[in-house]
Amino acid sequence: MKTPQFIQIHHMQLEAVRQELLQGLTANPQPGGASTSPKFLYDALGSRVFEAITELPEYYPTRTEAAIFEAHGGAMAQRVPAGATLIDLGAGNCNKAASLFDRFIPARYVAVDISVEFLRNALNCLQRQYPALDMVGVGLDFSQTLNLPPEVGAPDAAPRVLFYPGSSIGNFTPTEALAFLRQVHQACGPVAGGGLLIGVDLIKDSAELEAAYDDALGVTAAFNRNLLSHINRLVGSDLRLADWGHVALYNTDESRIEMHLAAHRDLTVHWPGGQRTFAQGERIHTENSYKWTIDGFSQLLREAGFGQAVTWTDAATPEQGRFAVLWASA
Ligand code: AVI
Repeated sequence: MKTPQFIQIHHMQLEAVRQELLQGLTANPQPGGASTSPKFLYDALGSRVFEAITELPEYYPTRTEAAIFEAHGGAMAQRVPAGATLIDLGAGNCNKAASLFDRFIPARYVAVDISVEFLRNALNCLQRQYPALDMVGVGLDFSQTLNLPPEVGAPDAAPRVLFYPGSSIGNFTPTEALAFLRQVHQACGPVAGGGLLIGVDLIKDSAELEAAYDDALGVTAAFNRNLLSHINRLVGSDLRLADWGHVALYNTDESRIEMHLAAHRDLTVHWPGGQRTFAQGERIHTENSYKWTIDGFSQLLREAGFGQAVTWTDAATPEQGRFAVLWASA
């Protein structure tokens, strides 16, 4: 049996992280107000709470995407060239890629996530199921730059299929998404047959969207408020979870769900060397989750350098779909 290879590229620069967080927290109320990057939602507990979110009745994206893989995995497999290296961006527990291994087995599976530790267990289990498969786990924060290490294999050695499921692309603004997709296109390499398989959440009724991000059990609220504990650990601040409430709203003009934390009362937050007051109701903007139309996203893929996309959705007619999986060749 082969054994997975593990590489950690990302080493958290604590001072840079502290500066980034404090800059966001101290931003003026006008125009944008305080904000933090959604990546800070994922400390060890946040990652586990996110897994719980994916099981909530209201949070349709994960199970809808899984149903699309189940129904159309055969057609997707036909797009994947023989001998491909499958590069899974944000692989997490590797379940999504593994669900496709019934239909095609790549020559090499590269799981990329911010923390290689989070991948270790999942890849070791997967290796037992697929003992002959070459596997590489890469710890890398690709939210700014997608710089794959040489252990992935030379770009011209095999066709590369980039896999970016879960509608994580929605956590980028459209401008950032385009810049990121251009890097993904580049990462597909020069070998014919390469491409991108990506999951995208579609625009729909705002009540359904808001319920998905403000569930009755309060799991998404816990996910959002857990950010405060993470910030306290990173910058030494004294944010109190009880002082903040979860807000999720659909911004129709921007086609995005916004998550915020709103202060329950006038309060002051302190950290070594600084402080900031928040008035009652004032918010920290913690996440955007953009929703797309199939046409809009196909156009974005073309602008990033990909060919015309093939789309699968959960509905008989794509326009009625709640979620889409797209294949675009590089
Ligand atoms: C990871 N990402 C695609 C999720 C989303 O739907 O935007 C994160 C999430 N935030 C709240 N619920 C789920």
